[in-house]
Parts: sequence; structure tokens; C-alpha cells
Amino acid sequence: MRNRPKTNGKRLTANLRVRLGRLTLETPIVCASGTFGFGEELKGLAHFKNIGAIITKTITLKPREGNPPPRIFETECGVLNSVGLENPGIDVFIKEKLPKLAKLNTKFIVSIGGFSLGEYEEITRKLNKIKEIQALEINLSCPNIKLKKMISQSKNLTYHFLKALRKITNKVLIAKITPEVTDIVQIAKAAEDAGTDALSLVNTFFGMAINIEEKKPYLGNIYGGYSGRAIKPLSLYRVWRVSSKTNIPIIGGGGIETAGDAIEFFLAGATAVSLGTINLAYPNRAETILRGIKEYLRMKKIKDTNKLRGSLIV
Ligand SMILES: Cc1cc2nc3c(=O)[nH]c(=O)nc-3n(C[C@H](O)[C@H](O)[C@H](O)COP(=O)(O)O)c2cc1C
Repeated sequence: MRNRPKTNGKRLTANLRVRLGRLTLETPIVCASGTFGFGEELKGLAHFKNIGAIITKTITLKPREGNPPPRIFETECGVLNSVGLENPGIDVFIKEKLPKLAKLNTKFIVSIGGFSLGEYEEITRKLNKIKEIQALEINLSCPNIKLKKMISQSKNLTYHFLKALRKITNKVLIAKITPEVTDIVQIAKAAEDAGTDALSLVNTFFGMAINIEEKKPYLGNIYGGYSGRAIKPLSLYRVWRVSSKTNIPIIGGGGIETAGDAIEFFLAGATAVSLGTINLAYPNRAETILRGIKEYLRMKKIKDTNKLRGSLIV
């Protein structure tokens, strides 16, 4: 990408704007839930104008302290976390976090989670009343809470939950689903059939690490969600498969660290890309990635990011 194309002095400025249903993002890069707090924590560390949207930490009905420490363990090529949805609860979020989030120079998407459909519905009803909120990411895929299985491990439950939420809200609904299933396409289709506007994939994979001296797991919760560099080929494959079988926009992510990674996801069919684990070390990575995407578009003489979507040649 160092070789700049000859443009006879004229700079081609490509369109970077993308749409997730009725939600327009000024750039195709979003910050993944749980890795960017509520935005305000990153003030001064990240340039928000490069970010299409911040997806908040998942909010539950009641405040949660999360799982016992240690909750983060760095492996050779990725990160294990067992945070367990630590969050202040919906009422504190609305009162204290939202006003600051709404003032940042970027859009935001509120991630919500729960232990029953009733909880998801109650949170959605509370958020429905707030006009600044345009979109909800429905987290159906947290690996760190004690449920028999994650909602998005069942196509029936995925459909049932999203259909019920679709009935009570007009806000843009984004379903965040787990890669821990035999066939992710079936789950994605169930979400689409329920009237979901967009998909967010993937959440973390289950993983663990063991301290052999102490013969104990490194995470307080024994196992956790695995993310970062190592999962990129796994998540890319799933985005590619889902995009070829569904017709709603996809936020693709898992292991993205560079512009090249992001472009791979666009070629595989993603409309937008999410940065997760990379934010923990480099919260301003969106800027570098956006620059790289623009450079790629210039070199390839492509005037619109949307033209990249699904343009993989096979
Ligand atoms: C520390 C940490 C906390 C996370 N918390 C949440 C969360 O609250 N809700 C959620 O939907 N995903 C959560 N995730 C998953 C990320 O949003 C993302 O889907 C996943 O890490 C894969 O992307 P990555 O490899 O770029 O990190 C968390 C990930 C990490 C590393």
C-alpha cells in the first residue's frame, strides 16, 4: 500500500458511509461491545470521528459485578476473558452513561443482554422511550453467564426472542450471535426471519488456559471467551458463509487488527467491521485502519466502500 496510485493530482475521495438498516454510519468501523466501555473512558485516546459507531458494553436489567477475578488472560495470540457482563444496569446506564455517550462525536449502539425474554423486553421498553437511541445490539451470545445454553445456540430461541423484540420496538435491531454452533447459517437465518435489521458476528469462542505449576485455570471462572488475532480466520469464514445465505447487513469481526483484515471481511460480505480486542491495547486503531481502507480504495480505483462488499472472486 506504499505505492500510491497516479491520480493526475486529483484525489479520489471514496464514500465510506454504510447502512445497517435505517442506521447510517459515517465510517464502516465500529468498536465492539465490551472493549470500548461507554465511549467516554476513551476520550483523549481515540478520535471518535473515525468510528462509525461505538457499541456499548452489554447492559442488563440489574447491575452486575461480573465473574470472580482473574477475568482476563492473554495467550500467545489472543485473549481469554470471563468478565461476565459487569455493568451498572439499565437505569444507571440511562441516567449516567447515556447523556455523556450521546455527546461524543460518533453514533452509538446500545448492547443489551438478559436472563429471560422478559428481561430483554423490559430493557427494550425502557430504551424505546429515548429518542437519541437509534439501534440496539441484542447480545444473544455471552459465553460468561450461567445459562443452560446461549440463546443463539438455538434457532428457535433466536427467532422467538428477536420476533418478540421486533414487535415492541422500531429501533434498528442487530442480533449478536455466537460462533459456537454446528451451523451458524441456520441461526443467522432465524434472526433474519424474525425481522432483525442486521447481524453482528461473531462473539467469542469458548476457551481456557491452565497454569501447570499450580494445576489451576488462569481464569477465576475456569473458562471464558476467546478473542483476538487467532480467531480471525474462523470469524472470517463464518461471515462469508452467512453473507452468502442471508440478505441483511453484517457487522463482521473477530481478530481484526489491520486495514487488510478489515478489507478481507468486506470482501467476504461484511457491511461494517468491528474492532474488539485490539482496542484494549490500541484504542485509536480505527484511525490507522480507516486510512488503510481509503488507501486501498484509491489504489483499486473504487469510489465506494459498499462496492467492496462480497466482491470476493471465487
Ligand atoms: C474484555 C472483553 C469483553 C467483552 N464484553 C462483551 C460484551 O459485554 N458483550 C458482547 O456482546 N461482546 C463482548 N465481547 C466480545 C467482543 O465484542 C467481540 O465480539 C469479540 O471479542 C470478537 O472480536 P475481537 O476478536 O475483535 O475481540 C467482549 C470481548 C472482550 C475481549
